[in-house]
Amino acid sequence: MEKYKKKLRSEEWFGDDDKMGFVHRSWLRNQGHPDHLFRGRPVIGICNTWSDLTPCNAHLRDFADIVKRGVYEAGGFPLEFPVMSLGETIMKPSTMMWRNLVSMDVEETIRANPLDGIVLLTGCDKTTPSTLMGACSVDLPTIIVPGGPMLNGKWRGMDVGSGTFTWQLADALKEGKITQDDLRDAESCMSRSAGHCMTMGTASSMASVVETLGLTLPGASSIPAVDSRKKVMAHLSGNRIVEMVHEDLKLSAILTKKAFENAIKINSAIGGSTNIMIHLTAIAGRIGVKLDIGDFDRLASEMPLLVNLMPAGKYLMEDLYYAGGLPVVIKELSKEIHSGALTINGKTIGDNCQDAVCYNNEVISSVDKPFKKKAGIVVLKGNLCENGAVIKPSAATDHLMQHTGRAVVFESIEDYHERVDDPKLDIDETCVMVLKGVGPVGYPGMPEVGNMELPQKLLKKGVKDMVRISDGRMSGTAYGTVVLHISPESSIGGTLALVRNGDLIELNVGKKSLNLLISEEELEKRRKEWTAPETASNRGYVNLYVNNVEQADKGCDFKFLKGGSGQKVLRDLH
Ligand code: FES
Repeated sequence: MEKYKKKLRSEEWFGDDDKMGFVHRSWLRNQGHPDHLFRGRPVIGICNTWSDLTPCNAHLRDFADIVKRGVYEAGGFPLEFPVMSLGETIMKPSTMMWRNLVSMDVEETIRANPLDGIVLLTGCDKTTPSTLMGACSVDLPTIIVPGGPMLNGKWRGMDVGSGTFTWQLADALKEGKITQDDLRDAESCMSRSAGHCMTMGTASSMASVVETLGLTLPGASSIPAVDSRKKVMAHLSGNRIVEMVHEDLKLSAILTKKAFENAIKINSAIGGSTNIMIHLTAIAGRIGVKLDIGDFDRLASEMPLLVNLMPAGKYLMEDLYYAGGLPVVIKELSKEIHSGALTINGKTIGDNCQDAVCYNNEVISSVDKPFKKKAGIVVLKGNLCENGAVIKPSAATDHLMQHTGRAVVFESIEDYHERVDDPKLDIDETCVMVLKGVGPVGYPGMPEVGNMELPQKLLKKGVKDMVRISDGRMSGTAYGTVVLHISPESSIGGTLALVRNGDLIELNVGKKSLNLLISEEELEKRRKEWTAPETASNRGYVNLYVNNVEQADKGCDFKFLKGGSGQKVLRDLH
């Protein structure tokens, strides 16, 4: 058959009858594999981000076995391998710092081994972009099986969403509206099944984005982790990756500029996370597609919000699935996107979604009657953010979108924690809270602290939102009038470093601007006085990170990891 003609990459290891062919096969034989599995079958690497320390991915150990069934059924030979896993809620100082390390782990593991095709089992926030970045730098046929969201959280008669509910509880505790016992009670009610955060946080956004990029089977992203149809999806993905190897359908054929443009637009329409900008930019950099912050501004800021999910709305991923899932959103926006973009099943994104049916207009609205007219992510420019900053209007407060206020500056996150609830802190609701030192280099690892909790005394007064600005990130589950990703960051001498208490800061989302209202002379004077803080570590990975990480507008990848080294191994094993 025509499709079986191409020589498999794995045959470089298993196909020879010499000493090394013997060595490559013989040691694997200790797992009881029969001879025919080594002969002319696509070897499928199942890259598993399972870990007990990554709660959102803890079910993926079983999913690997389901994918294997699909691979065997289609005539492939599956070999599972572990990679470093990133548990968002547990790892310190920030999983973002380890994203690039995982990408290196994945890239080198794939290239160095006899693999023809790859299945990425992912879930928690960074496990999807990190593994995909690594896979892109090798560029084999690759399919993603997103682990799926948890079931809706249920607490005292309410649906509660991961992350979003956490911030609400934290505020309620500060306001004295709930007790420690209430808080403890809520813990297990919010996270009541396997899976990742079920709000439209970074994990759900990232899963939706990779589905839009064409890297999953259609409809895969919103299926809850514990729904049996998720297992069917995993099995079918195992089938499909074997065919993809025979078709030589590589990542680079799918991840075109048009695919990225689709992903930017759909991320806006679902109210997706601001983190997606950083991850998509980094992924594009690995596959050789030029994507910059201007693309997000051009494509994302005018999109309507079609999906009524927390944090921008009230529903959760389980509801999105029952309403028809992401294919409904893609179909609804078929005139906005490149419908001809290719996906891993060999069909276009338009073909895949043309028969999608919406079963609940409350959850997924139409383009004609969107949930909100404008969503997306707005890119800000100004003297406070020469290379850009971002704000997510759908999660912000309307009357604060144009606001000038007095700066209340926190020099670090520790400084913030020490002083924010001090009754003597000179702050009111018109002020702008400024946080420094939480960028990629400064923290290091750009943690999700940009949505600083408001001072207790203002919460007790009933204040719900204030303008907050920083060089950090925000959880996709969070909300508020929060300016993030200020670039260049304060720790490398960006203007943010020069802001002082009492300065006036002007935010104008309509004009896409963020400015520090002081004279050029004063700014220059402060710049001369500024001294760079010490770097976090002079050894190991942290040292590698702070010396090589790029700024947020460039995707926070390492300069030396841009692009890929292809499938060829550096030298043979002798
Ligand atoms: Fe893992 Fe939210 S903590 S997805």
